[in-house]
Amino acid sequence: MNSQDVRERFLDFFAKREHAVLPSASLVPENDPSALFTTAGVQPLVPYILQGSHPKGSKLASVQKCVRTTDIDDIGDKTHGTFFEMLGNWSIGDYFKENAIQWSFELLTSHEEGFGLDIDRLYVTVFAGDDNVSRDTDSVDFWKKTGIPENRIYFLGKDNFWSAGESGPSGPSTEMFYDLTEEGLGDLTQEQFEKADESQKVVEIWNDVFMEYLKKDGEIVGKLSNRNVDTGSGLERLLMVLQKKDSIFETDLFAPVMDCAKTLTNNVRSQRILSDHIRTATFMIADGVRPSNTDKGYVLRRLLRRAIFHTVNKTLTTGDITALTGAVSGIYSQQYPDITAQIVIICSEIEKEVEKFSKTIALGIKQLEKLGKHISGTDAFILFTTYGFPIEMTEEIATEKGIIVDRESFDGELKKHQEQSRTASAGKFKGGLGGNSEQITKLHTAHHLLLAGLQQVLGKEVKQKGSNITDERLRLDFSFDRKLTDEEKSQVEKFVNDRIKEGHKVIRKEMPKEEAEKLGAEMEFGTKYADIVSVYSIEDENGVVYSQEFCGGPHVENTKDLGVFRIKKQESSSAGVRRIKAILE
Ligand code: ALA
Repeated sequence: MNSQDVRERFLDFFAKREHAVLPSASLVPENDPSALFTTAGVQPLVPYILQGSHPKGSKLASVQKCVRTTDIDDIGDKTHGTFFEMLGNWSIGDYFKENAIQWSFELLTSHEEGFGLDIDRLYVTVFAGDDNVSRDTDSVDFWKKTGIPENRIYFLGKDNFWSAGESGPSGPSTEMFYDLTEEGLGDLTQEQFEKADESQKVVEIWNDVFMEYLKKDGEIVGKLSNRNVDTGSGLERLLMVLQKKDSIFETDLFAPVMDCAKTLTNNVRSQRILSDHIRTATFMIADGVRPSNTDKGYVLRRLLRRAIFHTVNKTLTTGDITALTGAVSGIYSQQYPDITAQIVIICSEIEKEVEKFSKTIALGIKQLEKLGKHISGTDAFILFTTYGFPIEMTEEIATEKGIIVDRESFDGELKKHQEQSRTASAGKFKGGLGGNSEQITKLHTAHHLLLAGLQQVLGKEVKQKGSNITDERLRLDFSFDRKLTDEEKSQVEKFVNDRIKEGHKVIRKEMPKEEAEKLGAEMEFGTKYADIVSVYSIEDENGVVYSQEFCGGPHVENTKDLGVFRIKKQESSSAGVRRIKAILE
């Protein structure tokens, strides 16, 4: 079954069940300043769900183009892409859990009308319940009715509650996973299942959300007038399963682009990043986005520059661009003919960006090589402003060459510069890839609280092993040898959010390194510190110290400014080291 067969099977299945088939909306959301890109099939339907009706009826289905860049660091693994198509079906006040689950099951397993997947390889998760919403035992009953054995149904927490943004419809969800291993995993305990998910032995292929609740600024404020269904299945992942491929990059939606990418680099991760980013850029340009230093244009520029960076020669010739975008347009000639129609514009936009970037990159690398084994924040900042060299790239090259980059002090320099030039809010910087430093600053402080929270919940022996902060999220690597339970995760989140609510001062002190060590301030193992160090403390009026860390800053002045802290993801980083990604909402 190729990608077109899968799209058609999906839509035919729901059309037969009286669903109106909608065309894909643009990647650029209409009249929605809160979102840069369409991130889910439901996004264009949110106004209709809120109003309780849609002109095409109460049962809908579509294949929607989506872009998500929050997982950009994961691109290169087997299953993540920044662009993807979402297959979805909706009920606006029509059917609810029983039909949605029954149809998901039929479509996945039926040989005649669906995808003929093996029921013995299916696992499902349902919502475990929380203070606001009860445990979803109804969905368990409906799954059991289809024939899924109870011991392959797992209750999960936050991962099984889906919201269309901070303010919008939301509800508990049930997710379907498929076993990818050759031998078959058979029955799994919850812990074994979660491990299999983390190691990508099972993959999520569909999510059914039962939208009953309305959220405002992240909190449930009431029930919607209707009970609705919102489902989403990632076409690339489903194809990977159906075509028995080891990654989405070997399916017919990627293979021809990967063939081009293979001529530009031998590194598999780089081939995947290059293919993914060029495909996403092609779709963005076709939907009217142009590279720039702000908003959508900034995301596009970042994708293109990262793509170029992952080629061996750090550039793309006109021939390379034609080949790569030609491969993308060939794959989508039937489904999205506008790509082919706009291929000249797409190539010329990419070419312009390559030229701009080529000029700066050659100079930047030369400069970087002159800087020795330790690149200070100031030097990284000069590379960034004078040579337009993105900090991500400095870090990536530095890692390859065993050079240390002082990221924290770079962020401090960036903040100072933003304040001086008073362009902070516009995020406009020479070289282009400046982040929203206010958010980065907040995430720095949240990072300290997270480490303190982990030590409080898991024990003082937890130590920081690495960190990275972008304007979207923080990443903390720490010594610990297993996944946090849902309860531990909630306790850590609560610790951080309580300190935020209490509103503590963040105090900076400079002192000799020995003195800071005596105080027991947290330092990252393997990092070299200067003789005089700066230490940031978060403490209350009574002198209770919640956090104390060696750190160059910058930080917010008071924790009350941070917003709501949420752990988005936890995974294994290396043996004995866990990785958490978290955001502030
Ligand atoms: N809207 C749901 C999702 O994106 C189906 O997972």
